[in-house]
Amino acid sequence: MTATTPSPKRVDVATLEEKVKAMYRDVALHPHGQFHFEMGRALAERLGYAPADLDAIPAQAIDSFAGVGYYFDLAALAPGETAVDLGSGSGMDTFVAALMVGRGGRVIGVDMTDEQLAKAERLRTAAGFEHVEYRKGYIESTGLADASCNAVISNGVVNLAPEKDKVFREAARLLARGGRLALSDIVTEVQLPEGITCNATLWAACIGGAMQGDAYVAAIEAAGLRVRRVKDNPAYRFISDSARGATKKYGVKSVSILAVKE
Ligand SMILES: C[S@@+](CC[C@H](N)C(=O)[O-])C[C@H]1O[C@@H](n2cnc3c(N)ncnc32)[C@H](O)[C@@H]1O
Repeated sequence: MTATTPSPKRVDVATLEEKVKAMYRDVALHPHGQFHFEMGRALAERLGYAPADLDAIPAQAIDSFAGVGYYFDLAALAPGETAVDLGSGSGMDTFVAALMVGRGGRVIGVDMTDEQLAKAERLRTAAGFEHVEYRKGYIESTGLADASCNAVISNGVVNLAPEKDKVFREAARLLARGGRLALSDIVTEVQLPEGITCNATLWAACIGGAMQGDAYVAAIEAAGLRVRRVKDNPAYRFISDSARGATKKYGVKSVSILAVKE
């Protein structure tokens, strides 16, 4: 791990997992509560999701949408393809992906938080998205087969993982040759100080675990993927005062990235 990578040793990994699960349990169950970050349809539209796509998927999944950017333009999902969503939450992106791959395709959402999985599954069943499925698991080690998908997608999740290099290696393993990793995530302009990376609450709010942007791109390439595009998402902003302070001071920002398994 490079010096610019937040070290997993600086935050207690077990405490962090509990904090992350507690926060995203709340996101699933109480989406209209108070969080460091914005959620819901207004955010999704501002980031670039097409209103027609949002009209075609379960509204309660949109209420609990806690993503940080739009990357479906980079993912360019085609009918018949298989996509894996790492950290699928309440399912919004799995449903949008399902519209794009069509009933001849397949979407698999992986998440570790029971309440997120239960909500996504309930919405999936009610709306009849038969080509979507959810697996309980870790994004570092999904248990899915090698080269089993055309696209790995993810929104606002990898920053939460203490071992980001492991997540990118897992994405590379899952992709068939020519497959795409397309994601949106939080990165920083400068390496965050330990006071922030040790704070499990700020980590769970998508700030404390954010990696320096160039190191993040380098970690994707080190996993064997070629980064093709990196774009800023200026429409994304944190809402609590503490989160906004860190945003200004350390250049915490949202980016969307496309990488390819050549
Ligand atoms: C910020 S939310 C984003 C959810 C979804 N992508 C969205 O856009 O609404 C992060 C999600 O990632 C999940 N998560 C975080 N770290 C994880 C890990 N290591 N393995 C599996 N899921 C994880 C959390 O349970 C949560 O549902």
